[in-house]
Amino acid sequence: MHRRFADPKLVIASHNPGKVREIGDLLAPFSVEAVSAGALGLPEPEETGSTFEANAELKAHAAARASGLPSLADDSGLCVVALDGAPGIYSARWAGPTKDFALAMRKVEDGLAGKSDRRAHFVAVLSLAWPDGHVETFRGEVHGTLAWPPRGTRGFGYDPIFVPTGSDLTFGEFDPAAKHAVSHRAVAFARLIAACFAADGT
Ligand code: IMP
Repeated sequence: MHRRFADPKLVIASHNPGKVREIGDLLAPFSVEAVSAGALGLPEPEETGSTFEANAELKAHAAARASGLPSLADDSGLCVVALDGAPGIYSARWAGPTKDFALAMRKVEDGLAGKSDRRAHFVAVLSLAWPDGHVETFRGEVHGTLAWPPRGTRGFGYDPIFVPTGSDLTFGEFDPAAKHAVSHRAVAFARLIAACFAADGT
C-alpha cells in the first residue's frame, strides 16, 4: 500500500539545476508548490550509498528532516554496458569538482576505445520521503547507444552522447518535452504519480 501525497508543498531535494528544472517541469501539472533544496539553503548530504535507491532515499530523508516538508530526491546516472555499468552511481563524480561534463563524456569515450558494444542506459530513482521517515521509491530506465562526438546543447550532463533507442538524435538535441516523454526520470516519475498522487492530477 503506497502512501498518498496530499501536501500543498514539496521540496525538490537536489542542488543540480538540470534536475531541478526537469522535476519542476514534471510536477507542473500537479497543484503542488515545489521549492528546491538549494533555494532553502539545505546542506547537500554525502552520497554514501552503493545503489541508486540507497542514495535517492538518503537525499530525500535528509531534506525531509531538515525542512519538515515532504521531499523528492532523484539519484540518477549513466550505465555503460561495456564498462560494467560505470560510471553508474558515480556519474556526477566523473565530472570532477568543476562539474566538467565534456571531461566526463571524454572519459566514457576513452573507456570504450576498441570496444564495439556502445550500449548504455540512464537510470533514475525517485524517492519521496516524509518528515516522519516514511519513504516511497521508484526506478525508471531509458536504453540506447552512445554517440561520439557529443551533439546538442540542450539537456545536461551526459545528454549530448546518449541516443535513445528508436531515435537518431542525442538527448542533447531533443526538445525538452520530447525528452520528458521518454526519459528515465519521466518513467520513474510516472510510477511515482500512479502510486502516490490522485488520478485526477491533484
Ligand atoms: P546524482 O544523481 O546527483 O549523483 O547525479 C547524477 C548524474 O548523472 C548527473 O550529474 C548527470 O551527470 C547524470 N545524469 C542523470 N540524469 C541525466 C540526464 O537526464 N541526462 C544527462 N545526464 C544525466
